[in-house]
Amino acid sequence: MVLVSCSVDAPVKNPVNDTPFEFLPENWPLPKYRFTENQISKDRFELGRALFYETRLSRDNSISCAGCHIQNYAFAQTDHAFSHGVDNRVGTRNAPGLFNLAWHTEFMHDGAINHIEKQPLAPIANPIEMDENLTRVLEKLNALPKYKTLTRAAYNSDTLTSQRMLWAMTQFMGLIYAQHSKYDAVKNNTNGIHFTAAEQRGYDVFIQHCNACHREPLFSDFEYRSNGLAPLPMLLDSGRSHVTGLSKDKWKFKTPSLRNVALTYPYMHDGRFTTLDQCIEHYRRGNFNHENLDPLLKGAITLSEGQISDLKLFLNTLTDYTMIYDRRFSDPQLQP
Ligand code: HEC
Ligand code: HEC
Repeated sequence: MVLVSCSVDAPVKNPVNDTPFEFLPENWPLPKYRFTENQISKDRFELGRALFYETRLSRDNSISCAGCHIQNYAFAQTDHAFSHGVDNRVGTRNAPGLFNLAWHTEFMHDGAINHIEKQPLAPIANPIEMDENLTRVLEKLNALPKYKTLTRAAYNSDTLTSQRMLWAMTQFMGLIYAQHSKYDAVKNNTNGIHFTAAEQRGYDVFIQHCNACHREPLFSDFEYRSNGLAPLPMLLDSGRSHVTGLSKDKWKFKTPSLRNVALTYPYMHDGRFTTLDQCIEHYRRGNFNHENLDPLLKGAITLSEGQISDLKLFLNTLTDYTMIYDRRFSDPQLQP
């Protein structure tokens, strides 16, 4: 990972109370997206929040971003392996959790989107997601007094433009950060919190077998890799090669963060596994699809039943309950 120099950026403000944003826990790399041109304010964050929960972003006004990205599940979707969009059209990939996005430089399981500010355009235009176009969205929203008020507060103008919309949505998405898990408390030595003996053993297993790809502290290396899943015949989703066209990228997917992994089931790009046990069993059986298999996974990972149980206890320490119950990230119509 490349460390970017940061001296020119203005200090990032916490949108809640305008204190400096607690953005960078010790030992974390710098975020890739620094809000430099998209200056954070509480009103812009609130506009972005309203938009994230706005069903008018979809053609038939039926689905918002939050319809597939649910806060209590770390902004993943848990009731379907594949996401369902307008007219209940079914997609082909599982909706990932949304947090710590400022550390990503590419988005989606195959990295098809290369800038966080462009990200909302994809689901809006996607015929099996929101199936709408931006011009119509802006017409719909600009006709409502609510968005005049929100936009005036945020940008000192009554008109919501596409740029303002994308900036505001980026503030909301980009400030959902997962950094208050038990793991973090242990690492930061908070109030003497420590792992149980079993969690510590699970952590040791994790470091030995998983950390090379699911690298702490973000629990992803943000690389594209094949962890040996055989492609589902009905989809033949070849992953990263969709974007690069290269056969060496076939079957590779972005390493997902394992933060909040206890909540973000079902698992893998296609949601094929519903439990952590099934995920771990995949690595333990080593029944890997060998085309482009990652060299870090040469064969089955040997784990005893006890190690599996310890590993799961460790993975559970990665859940950030602060984030999933944080009212700032909830539906403003329910919790202003
Ligand atoms: C119909 C369900 C659905 C809706 C609605 C939806 N998403 Fe998603 N989202 C997904 C799926 C599925 C993926 C993974 C797609 C892929 O990899 O091709 C995804 C991926 C993402 C990612 C990438 C995360 C990562 O780790 O790379 C972001 C960010 C995101 N969505 C934000 C949004 C925003 C903002 C909206 C509203 C404008 C939205 N989504 C609406 C299903 C949905
Ligand atoms: C060679 C790199 C690599 C190693 C080593 C590795 N993984 Fe993965 N892991 C991946 C990739 C890549 C994916 C995404 C695959 C996909 O979406 O199809 C993944 C997906 C997962 C998922 C699903 C997460 C989600 O949100 O869908 C879990 C859980 C997981 N791995 C756990 C582990 C555990 C536990 C270990 C150690 C025993 C481990 N992984 C070792 C690369 C790796």
